[in-house]
Amino acid sequence: MSAPATRFLLTGGTGFLGSHLAVALLLKGHEVSLLARSLKNRPARDRVSALLDWFGLPEESRRGLRVVEGDVTRPGLGMAPGPLEELLLQTDGIIHCASDTSFSARKRAEVEAVNLGGLSNVLEAAAAGRASFFHLVSTAFVAGVAQGRCAEEPAEPAAFFNVYEETKCLGERMAMAACREAGMRLAIYRPSIVYGDSRTGRSLLFNALYSPVRAVLFLRDLYEKEIRERGGRKAAEAGVRVEPDGRIRLPLRIGASPGGGVNLIPVDYFTEAFLAVLEGAPDGGIFHIVNDRVTTIEELVGHTSGFLRLTGIRACAPGDFAAAPRNAIEALFESYVEPYLPYIRDTRRFDAANARPLLEKRGVRCPGFSYDVFERCMSFAVECGWRSPLP
Ligand SMILES: NC(=O)c1ccc[n+]([C@@H]2O[C@H](COP(=O)([O-])OP(=O)(O)OC[C@H]3O[C@@H](n4cnc5c(N)ncnc54)[C@H](OP(=O)(O)O)[C@@H]3O)[C@@H](O)[C@H]2O)c1
Repeated sequence: MSAPATRFLLTGGTGFLGSHLAVALLLKGHEVSLLARSLKNRPARDRVSALLDWFGLPEESRRGLRVVEGDVTRPGLGMAPGPLEELLLQTDGIIHCASDTSFSARKRAEVEAVNLGGLSNVLEAAAAGRASFFHLVSTAFVAGVAQGRCAEEPAEPAAFFNVYEETKCLGERMAMAACREAGMRLAIYRPSIVYGDSRTGRSLLFNALYSPVRAVLFLRDLYEKEIRERGGRKAAEAGVRVEPDGRIRLPLRIGASPGGGVNLIPVDYFTEAFLAVLEGAPDGGIFHIVNDRVTTIEELVGHTSGFLRLTGIRACAPGDFAAAPRNAIEALFESYVEPYLPYIRDTRRFDAANARPLLEKRGVRCPGFSYDVFERCMSFAVECGWRSPLP
């Protein structure tokens, strides 16, 4: 078997997961050509530089970095033919992390353009070059509408919860066909829901796990303000009050599936697990990068209540709403987190038979999602105003 590739072309390196991969690869001494876009008159090189400053990556570790201006949705990745050819000749492995992660049906055209059109362009470039290995960052949620065990196998669900899941699943099939035809090895990485760094709480993105917590914070602040500034009539009508110990009582039921839970992994674990698979699976394959233990909605409610100093929130079976219809707060909460409801009520269980031995061999273990970790991550989100901390 040939030695692991050391000259990588990385797409999506300005994003949450891709930037962690870029830093980890550079720290390991690999060469990384990072394909990035200019945005709002900021050249790709400046964006990447600001990102690496945020990570505190020392200058000497940046020696293996080359920033290449490009756009995966454009023919030839938006590069001139000569430079593209030169880049591909100097590439051993391609890590494709660029994606449009919107769940919105209204954005179907944009999501398809990146997740299918963009992937197709990258695969075409890969086939034309010298790369022998294609690493595709996908998602565990290619499993689509399913219950129970989901295997590390090509996914063929009958339906999807959103356009993101659908295009990621079609993308996997596209990559499998193209790599087979080009004689390229393929590794598919399927992370579950990724949150910030478990050790520092730092993150570049505050979606998924963060969105419901932010929605609860918004509702709390809304009513607390009304109580403090306008007498609290509306709050009283909604059953919101200040408890004697100063906590706010917010009557909010969150519909959860019995036996279900959310599969959450921190980005530090994702990065280590990705490298363990990249270096430990010379023939590629499909790998779930997930948590063996899901976090229940009861646990998330407990963490959120503790962090936001709330009472009155509880998980309930979805059937409860038939017996007692949603109150105004519950309806508002569900409208805010609507794209995430299938994940809140998730009963999918991701098998990790392929990934587990590779991770165990290297001692890579998913940190527990304790209250301390939650608090670190949410405190950082609040500090950043729930927006990317990058300039
Ligand atoms: N975050 C999670 O919880 C999670 C979970 C499972 C799987 N994943 C997968 O992980 C990968 C990265 O996701 P993420 O959370 O890191 O998302 P992200 O922060 O939104 O990053 C997306 C990246 O794709 C790039 N990109 C988008 N359109 C592009 C285009 N036309 N040309 C070049 N680059 C383009 C973005 O570049 P710009 O900076 O220029 O916009 C950015 O670097 C995706 O494949 C996603 O499906 C993520």
